Amino acid sequence: MASQDVRKRIDELRELLTGADDAYYGKAEPIMPDREYDRLMHELLRLELEHDLQHPQSPSTRIGGKPSKEFPTVVHPVPMMSLSNTYNRDELFDFDRRVRDNLGHSNFTYMVELKYDGMAIRLRYEKGRLVLGATRGDGEKGDNITANIRTVRDIPHRLSGPAPDVVEVRGEAYMEREAFALLNREREEQGETVFANPRNFTAGSLKMQDPAIVASRPIRFFAYDLLFDENDLARTQDQKLDQLAGLGLPVCDVRQKCESMDEIAELIGDWDKKRHSYPFETDGAVIKVNEDRYREELGSTAKAPRWAIAYKFEAEQATTIVEDITLQVGRLGTITPVAELTPVQLAGTTVKRASLHNEDEILRKDIRRGDSVVIEKAGDIIPQVVSVVNPDAPGRSNPFKMPAACPACSSQLQRLEGEVAWRCVNPACPPQTRIRIEHFSSRNAMDIDGLGTAIVEQLVDGGLIETFADLYELDAGQIVPLERMAEKSAQNLIEAIEKSKSQPFERVLFALGIRFVGDKVAKDLADHFRSIDRLMQAGTDELIAVDSIGPRIAESVVQFFSNEENRAIISRLRRYSLQLEQAEKTSVSEILSGKTFVLTGTLPTLKRDEAARLIEENGGKTSASVSKKTDYVLAGEAAGSKLDKAKKLNIEIIDEEQFFNLLK
Ligand code: IVH
Repeated sequence: MASQDVRKRIDELRELLTGADDAYYGKAEPIMPDREYDRLMHELLRLELEHDLQHPQSPSTRIGGKPSKEFPTVVHPVPMMSLSNTYNRDELFDFDRRVRDNLGHSNFTYMVELKYDGMAIRLRYEKGRLVLGATRGDGEKGDNITANIRTVRDIPHRLSGPAPDVVEVRGEAYMEREAFALLNREREEQGETVFANPRNFTAGSLKMQDPAIVASRPIRFFAYDLLFDENDLARTQDQKLDQLAGLGLPVCDVRQKCESMDEIAELIGDWDKKRHSYPFETDGAVIKVNEDRYREELGSTAKAPRWAIAYKFEAEQATTIVEDITLQVGRLGTITPVAELTPVQLAGTTVKRASLHNEDEILRKDIRRGDSVVIEKAGDIIPQVVSVVNPDAPGRSNPFKMPAACPACSSQLQRLEGEVAWRCVNPACPPQTRIRIEHFSSRNAMDIDGLGTAIVEQLVDGGLIETFADLYELDAGQIVPLERMAEKSAQNLIEAIEKSKSQPFERVLFALGIRFVGDKVAKDLADHFRSIDRLMQAGTDELIAVDSIGPRIAESVVQFFSNEENRAIISRLRRYSLQLEQAEKTSVSEILSGKTFVLTGTLPTLKRDEAARLIEENGGKTSASVSKKTDYVLAGEAAGSKLDKAKKLNIEIIDEEQFFNLLK
């Protein structure tokens, strides 16, 4: 969007949302569904943040708006307590005995929930509107992080349905493991500091001063407690969780009402086994007396309630030896030190290597060759070295020292100001060149069949190519002499390279390997600018106006195209007739117009991108995740959680044959 359009859209959204607020609060006659309200509010927030156009009168601004340099302090009217913890099953039975003794009867039940490993958050709704989001702080006082909390999509800005005047919600902000792993990998690749686990990533994000960045982090939320102004002791935790869900807040499905501690002990044993299969981290279970009236009777100690206890799962760790510390060179020249470990079993897999992230991290933990170390999996996925077992052991090797030269091309490494990573800035560094070319030819990019790692390595190391543009000047005669190549396979490769010239512009753009430009961003850029010439002329402002583009990506795109060598490569690609303009969409029909599809599993004949193309060519849309807005889930073999969600939401599930019938 151009900046005029942004202002126009912001005005439009403010008007719509103010109207919706008036109708809802003034006349108690909602004019739009809550979901729609939240969607528009998120759009407004994003645009205001990205273009620095916040305004105190905007409907997006209730308390404060942009947080000040340090967050204002809020006092919690009801303190946010912690829980007493145990790792020991016997202590659970002791807890149960104490509860029975204190109450003098056994007419109560327990609610058992997972203990989400994130950050405790307090939300306050007044007249159904979110007016405050705060951290726990010291339990009495926390930080007012409302502006950041408003960017969390799971947290509604307005409660659904009728709600009491004041509603207080407590819950946990967290990040799913896969999102964590992906973001951390990206951070490592970009030479930024990495987070040790999803909890730190969540807390680090929510404490940032710029809500626009928080908005780009996939932070989720589970509510686990509900407090009203008036105290109705007839309530149970069970009902409160249902009420929370009814108000539009996410609650976790993994929970169970239990009658006895034996039942609970069995349940948490089961959860412990399953915990790696949940998409989020859990470090235990919380056992709570279900009935508010008994909670009131039991009361609390200074720190924790007497009606609840947390049972913590043992962290899965292993001990092994750092046989060596090697250096890996990434596509962007980032040097990542890696611990080569004596293979060891950990949480279901054999671990042989663990990234040590960067020099600072190694020095902080003082990890050296030959050390015995404790390892665990961050977010249950990424092996990492936690600590050295015996730092005082005699005869340890020397402290780690970052080599001055790139292990691959021997050029001097550089560490830019403000970055934690050392980089090899030699554009001709062979591993970087190889990874760039592999990226260029990969399936989602130019999809050059037969150009695998082994061939790329030989082409680069043999001096036949230096950049991906050189691919288009190769002839079969140069390839035949390579290992595992013959006349026929060489000819096939040349044909595959030739065929890649017809890949659409968005793929070429992705294939260029611009920092932060993944396939989705490349598609948005191609759709918006429609030609490389227009894109190359765009300034940061113009780029930011595109839907999925933030300042970081915009800056990177501008930098890429201002580099002379990159411009020379683009000129060559033009000469070789690659698609540097977006072709007009070939619309076959409008038969799927207005329909949204989600693809999951492996289809018998169609590849995923072919199915997506068919949908788009016939006027439909595809989406990555299942929601109420999904019309069809097109499911194949080994479909996973999307299928379960579709069933839950009663969304029509079709197979490939039914899909073809729709197109008829
Ligand atoms: S109930 C009085 N339920 O664990 C406190 N807490 O040490 C009542 N937590 O920081 C808390 N999952 O944020 C409760 N299902 C759950 C929870 C949970 C995670 C966190 C909570 C708090 C810590 C308590």
